[in-house]
Amino acid sequence: MNKLTHILCIGAGYVGGPTMAMIAKKCPDRKVTVVDINEARIAAWQGPDLPFYEPGLREVVDATLGRNLFFSTDIPAAVAEADVVFVAVNTPTKTFGQGAGRAADLQYWEKTAREIQSYATHDLIVVEKSTLPVRTATAMKRVLESGDSRHHFEVLSNPEFLAEGTAIADLEAPDRVLVGSAETPAGLAAREAVVDIYASWVPRERILTTNVWSSELSKLAANAFLAQRISSANALTELCEKTGADVTEVSRAIGADSRIGPKFLKAGVGFGGSCFKKDILNLVYLCEQQGLSRAADYWRAVVEMNEHQETRFVGTMLKAMFNTVAGKRIALLGYAFKADTSDTRETPAKVVADLLAEERAELVVCDPHALENARKELAPHGGRVSFEPDPYKAVEGADAVAVLTDWRQFAALDWARVYALMRKPAFLFDGRNFLPHRALFDLGFHVYPIGKPPMSHF
Ligand code: UDX
Ligand code: UDX
Repeated sequence: MNKLTHILCIGAGYVGGPTMAMIAKKCPDRKVTVVDINEARIAAWQGPDLPFYEPGLREVVDATLGRNLFFSTDIPAAVAEADVVFVAVNTPTKTFGQGAGRAADLQYWEKTAREIQSYATHDLIVVEKSTLPVRTATAMKRVLESGDSRHHFEVLSNPEFLAEGTAIADLEAPDRVLVGSAETPAGLAAREAVVDIYASWVPRERILTTNVWSSELSKLAANAFLAQRISSANALTELCEKTGADVTEVSRAIGADSRIGPKFLKAGVGFGGSCFKKDILNLVYLCEQQGLSRAADYWRAVVEMNEHQETRFVGTMLKAMFNTVAGKRIALLGYAFKADTSDTRETPAKVVADLLAEERAELVVCDPHALENARKELAPHGGRVSFEPDPYKAVEGADAVAVLTDWRQFAALDWARVYALMRKPAFLFDGRNFLPHRALFDLGFHVYPIGKPPMSHF
């Protein structure tokens, strides 16, 4: 087995950056280079402010940058010296043409394959890190070996399962690492060489090997299953609100069954993030392409349930506040799609903010790390939306507070002070179901949790 001493990653995003920093940390004897077409992003990785907020990332980058971790925009030079190329460019949902709104947009992917082909100076292992439709590896191999290509390219799949906010812990001690390859002698040798990178710190029994197609599909399936659990919990919330059951108690009771397990059963305003919706729609599209309409409908319902939960949240707010929020001041606590990240891709908070702005509410958005993104995304609403890092200032004079991200800072607020600062009646909508509802009710709030009956003083 040839040791892969020069590791290259194309795409310095949420996946490529942290993953390569961890490989550099754990493999001091290998050189890790990350390239990207975005110069500002490459500069940020080497500067005082990393491109995004991720707990623990700073320390890993500081320990490795310039030692054996390098960032660059010189793609030709980096490809020329690489033994293995991880590809982590983005694969967003297509917004045009066939499959628009469902299929993955593979244009950056193919462009990257062509770049690798033209700059390669020797045989290469190419590893899919991005989430991709099943059988993309075949297309990739065809592009790589087209024309007068002189080199052999072995295409592997090694999907990344890290979650934002816990990326460093996930990379440090992953539940599993998955490496899929062709089951040919060359494929198996490449697989072993990639496994060897991870074996520097991940116990061998946690490194799973499969064929390429299983690996590609496993990534889509893992995200679809996780999202499906959340949508299942959310699908019980309306029934709970109407019957007096409490979805938190139901989730605890269900999750205590070791066959089900307790994780990803937390009901809320809906799931966000760059992956869940995109990957499920991609799965839906793949099923449709194979004529599997029942399977497509099944998975599509997971996304539809999520969209319903987001709009229903605003419906609850409207109904509670006497069917009008026009001119009312509403503080949105949290804009990131989950706690411990500045990422706002597909955040339910955007849907909520858009719908409330349409109702002509005056919004104040507060988030410890995501205000910069919020400003950009909510700019079309003009003066109707303002931004305030201090939660106490955000709630001043507000008719309602809607908690949309489960930041610990919000649970730790002095809620009596919040109540005192607000206009009365003071409404509280807990989109993350993580505040002490009874205590807040006792303070005077009209409390609207998700998945349990509202607690109103009227
Ligand atoms: C990743 C995966 O790529 C995606 O498939 C997965 O489903 C989610 O995570 P992520 O790292 O979150 O995406 O994306 P992003 O932060 O947008 O990073 C991708 C990077 O690739 C960007 O910095 C972009 O500039 C770069 N890129 C894109 C290139 O370097 N070359 C290109 O041709 C296109
Ligand atoms: C997800 C997968 O977890 C990860 O393995 C994959 O590599 C990328 O996609 P991520 O999107 O970063 O990671 O975050 P995740 O923790 O999965 O949360 C996704 C969304 O679901 C968030 O909006 C979160 O608030 C929500 N969620 C999560 C719930 O609403 N309830 C839960 O019980 C868990």
